[in-house]
This record gives sequence, C-alpha cells and structure tokens, in this order.
Amino acid sequence: MKLLVTGAAGFIGSTFLRVLAEEHPDDKIVVLDKLTYAGRRENLPADTYLQVGAIEDPIAVREAMEGADAVVNFAAESHVDRSIAEQDVFAITHVIGTSVLLDAARELGVSRYLQVSTDEVYGSIDEGSFTERSPLDPSSPYSATKAAGDLLVSAHAHTYGIEAVICRGSNNYGPRQYPEKLIPLMILNALHGDALPVYGDGKQVRNWLYAEDFSRAIDLVLRKGNPGEVYNVGGPDETFNLDVVQRIIEATGASEDLIQYVTDRPGHDRRYSLSSDKVRALGWEPSRDFATGLTETVEWYRANADWWAPIRSGDYRAYYEEHYGLKLG
Ligand code: NAD
Ligand code: DAU
Repeated sequence: MKLLVTGAAGFIGSTFLRVLAEEHPDDKIVVLDKLTYAGRRENLPADTYLQVGAIEDPIAVREAMEGADAVVNFAAESHVDRSIAEQDVFAITHVIGTSVLLDAARELGVSRYLQVSTDEVYGSIDEGSFTERSPLDPSSPYSATKAAGDLLVSAHAHTYGIEAVICRGSNNYGPRQYPEKLIPLMILNALHGDALPVYGDGKQVRNWLYAEDFSRAIDLVLRKGNPGEVYNVGGPDETFNLDVVQRIIEATGASEDLIQYVTDRPGHDRRYSLSSDKVRALGWEPSRDFATGLTETVEWYRANADWWAPIRSGDYRAYYEEHYGLKLG
C-alpha cells in the first residue's frame, strides 16, 4: 500500500510509523505535517519522507495525496488546555483540515480513509462505558472540533460512499509524548524536583492506553474495519489522576511534597471510559497493563534527555509558567 499519514511528526503518528515499519515493511509512506510546536522531525523514523505542510491547504494536500491508496489522519491540535485558551486553530485543523482531506481523497480516488479521533467526543460518563452508538456530547473546544471532524467523515462516507472509518482512542501515553500532557509532564517534573500540578481534587478518571497499542488498533481497523463505521479503542485500566501521580512519584523516587493542587481546568470532564468490544472482535487486544507501560515510559524519559531537554529549555517553559503560574527549575 501507499499511505499518506498526516500529523506523523507528533506523538501517536510517529509511533504508528514504527508499527507500520515492523508490520508492513513494504508499504510506501508519505508524511504531511505542519510541524507545530508538537511536531518534531526527530520523532520520525530515519528515511521517512516528510512534506511540511498543513492539512487545511488544498494544494499541499493534493501534492502529498497523489497516488495514495489510503490516508490516515492524525493531524491535530491535541491539547485540551490550549483549546480553552485559543480555539481558532483547533477549528481550522479539525474542521477545515478534515474537509480538505476528504475532498481530495474523493477526487483522487483514494480507496481507504481513517480518521484518528478521541473518546472525548462522547463527553464525560459517571458509570459504565461509551459504545460506538453513544451520542456525541463534547465539552471542550478541542473535543467539539474533533467531533465536527468525525461528523464530516461520516457524512462523506454516507453521501459519496468513500471507504472511511473512524478510530476513537482513550488517553494515550508512552515515548515521545509532548510534556504538556499529564504523564510526561509529571515524569519530567518529578525527575527535576519541580511541583506536580494536580487539577482540582485529582479524582478525575482516565482510561490509559499505550500508544503502540492504539497504533496497532489503527492499523487493524485501516485494513479490516467495515467502511463507514466507528471503532472505539480503550485502554485496559482506569485510574484516578492522583494515583497516576503517586505511581510516578514511586517510579522516580521523588517526594510526595511536590504535589501541588492547582485551579481546576474549566469544564473538566470527570471520567472517560470506552467499551472496546468491537475492535477486540477484529482481533485487537492491548499488550500492556498500565503498571508495565508506565514503568517503561518512565525509563524511556530517563534515558532520552536528548529528546526532552530542548523542549524544556524552549517556548514550552514560557507556556508552562504562564499556564500554571509556577516556575520550572
Ligand atoms: P500531537 O500533538 O503529539 O501531534 C499532532 C501532530 O499533528 C504534530 O506533528 C503537528 O505538527 C501536526 N499538526 C497539527 N496541526 C496540523 C495541520 N493543520 N496540518 C498538518 N499537521 C498538523 O498529537 P497526538 O497526541 O499524537 O494525537 C494524534 C491524534 O490522535 C490526534 O488526532 C488526536 O486527536 C488523537 N488522539 C490523541 C490521544 C492522546 O491521548 N494523545 C487520544 C486519542 C486520540
Ligand atoms: O481522552 C483522549 C484525550 O486524552 C485526547 O483526545 C487528547 O488529545 C489528550 O490530550 C488527552 O486529553 P486529556 O485532557 O485527558 O489529557 P491531559 O494529559 O491534558 O490530562 C489528563 C488528566 O490530567 C486530565 O484529567 C487533566 C489532568 N491534569 C493534566 C495536566 C496537564 C492535571 O491534573 N494536571 C496537569 O498538569
């Protein structure tokens, strides 16, 4: 297959490229990525063909998509906090960008389109788990614009018959995640003896999924999923945020005194939980429980200061200090 993979210079997309290299070494890959603050050339495996460009740019998209059999769209602004501060770029990438990709896929006769999406489109759930038939009820500008992108994908599949599928993942973690997200932020702060900023009471629940496992599910749905359908991919464990922080404290040997309760995120979703029965029926299952994956992730960040040192000394520091009102050491 020849695949166009958008947003693959980011965290999950670059993990997906590693899974493809292992599982389908003969596939030809073109990456289209805007290289935002979260997209880094050094995330890409050596010899990846990268076209720098935005998915909302129809000319760049047609150039990158020419001759592709399939498109996998990871490109996104992925951070909920940033969407609360500034939503325009979320709407442009998730809505306009998805629309441009779908139009080009239809015009160029691409046979398969996979939209990478999120459990956040369903909103928060106090008990039980969301299925693919649960109504969309997004709460943040991030999830609202992701939901809009999903609806465009479904509408294109319905109206034009393009073979599109949607994969909705729960919270991912693992190597190369930008340290604005809970797990890498807490690991790096713990390793540096910086404050560990917990939003609200820390009793929010997330359904943690190792990024390699999500990537394997995406690969499976791309090749075996039913056209026009949605597949949820949830992690094997549900954990309170505070428990995640405690585990990171234990794994790094940091002091519990570093925990600092800070102002809660506006509109903060309390709990996410996905039923993954449908993707499991295709043959997927997670390879790691949260304890194993978290230990490996802490070790990766310990061993890869070359990856994170330039981030912690750059614009990220200004973002962090403004967002949290806290200093990094
Ligand atoms: P990320 O922020 O690490 O990477 C996003 C990538 O997209 C970056 O390389 C960035 O440069 C690129 N990008 C952003 N806007 C673009 C544009 N307009 N045109 C082209 N490239 C653009 O994000 P991630 O965590 O790897 O998330 C990837 C996808 O998975 C997203 O669609 C996200 O919604 C979804 N998702 C993420 C999680 C999670 O926990 N991180 C969970 C479920 C689903
Ligand atoms: O559920 C899937 C989603 O998971 C993806 O679609 C998003 O792209 C991804 O960013 C993630 O969203 P969350 O908002 O759940 O992730 P984040 O890592 O920002 O926060 C996880 C939880 O930790 C959430 O309840 C907020 C809390 N938190 C986060 C940070 C950064 C804190 O308590 N302190 C923090 O400093």
